[in-house]
Amino acid sequence: MPSEFNPADTAPHSFDLSFDAHDEVINPKPADCDFDGVVEGALSRRGFLNGVLTFGGISMLAGMDVGLASGQAQAASSRFQFDAVAANTLDTITVPASFQWQVLVRWGDPLWSDGKEFDRDSLTAATQMRGFGDNNDGMDLFADGNRQILVANNEYTNRRIMYGNRLSQAPETVDDVHKGKAAHGISVMEVRQRGNTWSVVQDSPYNRRITADSDMEITGPAAGHDLLKTAADPSGTRSLGTWSNCGNGRTPWGTYLACEENFNSYFSSSDPQFIIPDALKRYSIAHNDWGYGWASFDERFDISRHPNEPNRAGYVVEIDPLDANSVPKKRTALGRIKHENAEVVVNSDGRVIVYMGDDEPGEFLYKYISDGVYVEGGETGHLLSSGTLYAARFDEDGSGRWLALTPETTGMKDRGEIAVHTRLAGSKVGATTMDRPEWVATNPAKAELYCALTKNKKRGIEPNKGGDAMPVGGPNPRQANKYGQIVRWRPQGGDHSADRFDWDLFVLAGNPEVHSDARAGSKNINAGNMFNAPDGITFDDNGLLWIRTDGKYSNKMDFAGQGNNQMLVGDPITGEIRRFMVGPNECEISGLCWSGDRKTMFVGIQHPGEKGGSHFPDGGNSVPRSAIIAVRRNDGGRIG
Ligand code: FEO
Ligand code: CA
Ligand code: CA
Repeated sequence: MPSEFNPADTAPHSFDLSFDAHDEVINPKPADCDFDGVVEGALSRRGFLNGVLTFGGISMLAGMDVGLASGQAQAASSRFQFDAVAANTLDTITVPASFQWQVLVRWGDPLWSDGKEFDRDSLTAATQMRGFGDNNDGMDLFADGNRQILVANNEYTNRRIMYGNRLSQAPETVDDVHKGKAAHGISVMEVRQRGNTWSVVQDSPYNRRITADSDMEITGPAAGHDLLKTAADPSGTRSLGTWSNCGNGRTPWGTYLACEENFNSYFSSSDPQFIIPDALKRYSIAHNDWGYGWASFDERFDISRHPNEPNRAGYVVEIDPLDANSVPKKRTALGRIKHENAEVVVNSDGRVIVYMGDDEPGEFLYKYISDGVYVEGGETGHLLSSGTLYAARFDEDGSGRWLALTPETTGMKDRGEIAVHTRLAGSKVGATTMDRPEWVATNPAKAELYCALTKNKKRGIEPNKGGDAMPVGGPNPRQANKYGQIVRWRPQGGDHSADRFDWDLFVLAGNPEVHSDARAGSKNINAGNMFNAPDGITFDDNGLLWIRTDGKYSNKMDFAGQGNNQMLVGDPITGEIRRFMVGPNECEISGLCWSGDRKTMFVGIQHPGEKGGSHFPDGGNSVPRSAIIAVRRNDGGRIG
């Protein structure tokens, strides 16, 4: 097993793998473990499901109730207003018969009338700059009067698809690299509904592309810190670009938060002898990038020449969606991690709370509390610039504690260092290593948060990148966890600023058709709604949780009967889960948001055909393209 991923070590297209597939390559699957022993170990930790049930033996874990009143999982009066969709492997979107869908925008569609219709083989950096970016993930919709502005992250590019016009299927020229950088970042576009059809308003003054080369302002405790100073920016306050934007958030003052996730995969070293500092290794910075080639034509991505440059990525970026000339702000106060999303809550005392997951095996769950308070119509610039970060510790008895990350608790020099080396700070306070925390969602009906823990095949096998143990237990109860789970917690007294919380599990995903042990999943999982790898989660206004998956779509063995990636809806009151949508081949279902009237749901379809098995959305022999689709009820009613 190579200690650092080297594209040359693997098959020709290995650098075109998804993050998970990369993880498989870098960290091969452990040999089959003694699963019964693991389950016994989990059971022996009494109360790990918050005392909801007393377990009598291994057989009780399969089909267990998690956080639910027994028997409620199949409640007679469902709140779901649709019939379940069956799992399938069709190369299209499947929604209930009472719904319809259309494509709103695809990778490369021009946002301005001087752009060119998409043609993969002749796509250039210039044409990509005028079109929708690639691999859309998190998104949200904003209103300016009666105009609606959609903002979407363009997380990464599938190199084999983007450079399919090259024999190497890799970037070869400076324009190839610039094209890739231009496909990253964020797309802002006005959208409009005519009849039942939505479209992008070309040439709207709101339309904007933010890319890996756009001007950014660095704010917060790391701004101007020595760790952020580079040859190009000795002030440490301005940086170029945002990339690997995965999930998102929105503030009550109307700004969009784009969250930088796998930022490491774009850096490389021209000097093979360069000794990578431990602080960079913690973020999986390596000698080789994942095949993007950015350092070939932009030396700031060469860590042997500019070792501080990776410290300028991995942040939450705040963007004003209504001002196409505004400078995005990197909010270092929210920490430098592989950010998934940023779930913003205004506490009862007015302080701004942001919950955030760090998506890598054994990384932590975080909370930020602002120093200042939010006043509607008041100044907001400081609210995400000055505050305290916390990392979560989950205890076996169903309680938990937020651990402050300060110079006193971590022994680190100052808050700037904590903002940059946030993972190291989390390790120092003994936060709980989690099964890859993805999106966090807040229940609109009560002070209760949910986080998708997508999976973690290293659970109980090896430590995280910082050497912190990853024992089986607590909210991470299964060794070599390949299905994932959703944990939820309630702040003590309903106060989001409280140090203490109680937690339980909403669902353990699994496959009850294949397994009869813990891998079958919790009792609210059955043959008709099973899935793997929950990722995006978002509540609607009715308090239902929309769950998107980014998991295995082999439909075989452990994943037999689960079909393509999908979107399901969960009821936090009854525990019922029902499948709403199945995506096309090899996609994940990514971002989710609603129109102002809640009658249209916009859904992200990311990386269809990432392994060559899809022609979504245009069919025939076309190049597969990530897209945003608009979903409506046939009767025009509200959705969520
Ligand atoms: Fe980009 Fe953690 O998903
Ligand atoms: Ca994700
Ligand atoms: Ca993903």
